[in-house]
Amino acid sequence: MPDTITINGTDHPLPSDPRTSLLDFLRHDLGLTGTKKGCDHGQCGACTVIVNGMRINSCLTLAALHDGDDVTTIEGLGTPENPSPLQVAFVEHDGYQCGYCTPGQVCSATAMLDEIKAGFASDASADLTGEMTATAEEIRERMSGNLCRCGAYANIVAAIRDVAG
Ligand code: FES
Repeated sequence: MPDTITINGTDHPLPSDPRTSLLDFLRHDLGLTGTKKGCDHGQCGACTVIVNGMRINSCLTLAALHDGDDVTTIEGLGTPENPSPLQVAFVEHDGYQCGYCTPGQVCSATAMLDEIKAGFASDASADLTGEMTATAEEIRERMSGNLCRCGAYANIVAAIRDVAG
């Protein structure tokens, strides 16, 4: 299927301007403003989305490079009526303050936990049965690409640990 990208389960034509970043395509062309623009230079992680199961900074890549790819944004993870387990945990643990970084944090953590489940983690985070036992230190390391200017890190880690088990 030529020149299409799947966003949250729906196919869309790629933008006509090949210079359009994936972030701008999501926000401006599709109106998916849950994905945030912080630095626009790959420094903050606010723009994190999940592409084919991997988390990426959508400000650093062109939409045109994602022909045929499967993209999940924060809008695709859950809804206010049916939030994902991580979204529930972020609320229960106050894993945010202003909330601007939260979509990127949740997308990043979602993919990170899937990485661990899939066995891409170190020996310390997945035992032989595949049970997740991510430590706070490992979560901090794996989430280090997502900055929080409010400094809600302790609660973010607590929320992720709650889901990781
Ligand atoms: Fe993409 Fe900051 S907006 S990393």
